[in-house]
Amino acid sequence: MNAESKQPGDATESATPDPTDPGYERHLERSRTMWNRWSDWYTMSERDFEPIREAAIDRLGLESGDRVLEIGCGPGVNFALVREAIGETGRLVAIDYSPEMVAKARDRIERHGWDNVEVHCADATRVDIEGSFDAAVATLSMSIMPDVRAAVGNVHRHLESGKSFVVFDLRPVPEGPARIANPFLRWFLRWYANWNPDGDVLASLRAVFTECTVGETYAAGTAYTVHCRKSVSPEE
Ligand SMILES: C[S@@+](CC[C@H](N)C(=O)[O-])C[C@H]1O[C@@H](n2cnc3c(N)ncnc32)[C@H](O)[C@@H]1O
Repeated sequence: MNAESKQPGDATESATPDPTDPGYERHLERSRTMWNRWSDWYTMSERDFEPIREAAIDRLGLESGDRVLEIGCGPGVNFALVREAIGETGRLVAIDYSPEMVAKARDRIERHGWDNVEVHCADATRVDIEGSFDAAVATLSMSIMPDVRAAVGNVHRHLESGKSFVVFDLRPVPEGPARIANPFLRWFLRWYANWNPDGDVLASLRAVFTECTVGETYAAGTAYTVHCRKSVSPEE
């Protein structure tokens, strides 16, 4: 494990996806097909990264009553952890683009009787949700977005000043001789998860958020968490 910290100055910059880009829609539709298919098998692997998920959600510093936004929630693997932290008075709004994943997430909500957890079937890059949030989280999903930079901008827009966005994601080996495995890793992530080869999650986070700290890294740096905080404007 290691840690690094970065403080770029540009916190207000944001990007909107180009609706005329045919690659955007192609990527999105491939995600829908792929994740609909995986939704039937996801329970077999959903506990694989449990300690990393717990550490990521812990970094949000959630309190009872907080409003939380989750990006690419899949079948709701993180719901219990978030719900436990925000209690009955908080609100969890989760977004996923795959209708099958959303159906499974809604089943989970119904089974537990969580009436303050809701799931929307939408493209997290473009979705506009009413209200703002005290925290946002994305686990294993930002690197799949059709326009990673715009997706980060959209989360930033929905977050209250001074509040956190925590990301847990996968990437090619960042340094050292193990980078020899990267061509295979890129191919595998694209084949398995519709990973976006043109999106750099860390660079996108750093371009949008003033404070951006890489926390724990695992498996030669291929699995990592990042804690970002939205800056507070001077007049606040
Ligand atoms: C690897 S799964 C991660 C699920 C869950 N967050 C977890 O940690 O297990 C990626 C999820 O991102 C969703 N996804 C992909 N593109 C999306 C988009 N543009 N907007 C919202 N969700 C998206 C997929 O449907 C899929 O459920």
